Amino acid sequence: MVEPSPVLTLNNGVTMPAVGFGVFQSGPAETVGAVKTAIGLGYRLIDTASAYANEAQVGEGVRESGVDRGDVFVTTKLKPDDCGYDSALSAFDASMAALGFDTLDLYLLHWPLPHRFETTVASWRAAERLLAEGRVRAIGVCNFTEAHLDRLMKQVEVTPALNQVEMHPFLVQDDLRRANAARGIVTQAWSPIGGVNRYWQSGDDPLTAPVVVDLAKRHGKTPAQIILRWHVDRGVSVIPKSTNPKRIAENFALFDFSLSDDDIRAIDALDQNRRGGPDPDAERPGR
Ligand code: A2P
Repeated sequence: MVEPSPVLTLNNGVTMPAVGFGVFQSGPAETVGAVKTAIGLGYRLIDTASAYANEAQVGEGVRESGVDRGDVFVTTKLKPDDCGYDSALSAFDASMAALGFDTLDLYLLHWPLPHRFETTVASWRAAERLLAEGRVRAIGVCNFTEAHLDRLMKQVEVTPALNQVEMHPFLVQDDLRRANAARGIVTQAWSPIGGVNRYWQSGDDPLTAPVVVDLAKRHGKTPAQIILRWHVDRGVSVIPKSTNPKRIAENFALFDFSLSDDDIRAIDALDQNRRGGPDPDAERPGR
């Protein structure tokens, strides 16, 4: 029996599992099965986005899992092309129709769009309305820097509950993690095991970093488990993606060991401040 994920409490009291399941780059054909497998293994958080083109399959996977909808925390995101007040409300409706849900657990703005930030603010106001109407239980952002957070928070009522950012041992972003925490915002890592370094860049891979491989040997765990545990021990939520049942299981078997402070510091020291994904300050997120 796999232990359940620890839970994080968002700034409006809503609780969320710290360890979730990502479906970025999961093709529609594989997503239903992957989501069912993940829920069957104990995952209770599924992270999708309208830009991933698999919301319908996520909804289907949740329904077919046999677990009550209310027991699975589902996130989706507003894509940049849909930014703006009215367009965000329409995009939310389209996401809900695709998912087949009445309410959503977490709605995120996918990118900050700093060069047309007024549309980001308008999208956020739409998200605030969805929250007030009870159509979504929490709202947050993705890929926001500390400056983006302050710019938004100066103009709006509701503080984001969560900031989902690229984070892995080559991009530790400790300052951003602290900046989020100081504002009561949970940090969630996308590409937590550094997959982005493999599928978008030809650079090295945190999973083969000797420090990680050594820790894996010492703890009798895999490199992915060591890195995911490092995030969780730093209070960061993770949403590793896999469509492989063995790796889906591996990425959730994290709660029967712990890392020492020295182990955590050794992983922190791998930081290269190197981004594999888009720069959040870019006008249009792209590769
Ligand atoms: P696959 O779907 O074939 O398992 P990230 O979430 O950090 O971006 O990582 C996702 C990438 O890493 C995907 O390419 C995924 O491929 C692969 N992956 C997921 N889990 C593991 C694991 N435990 N060990 C090695 N590779 C993994």
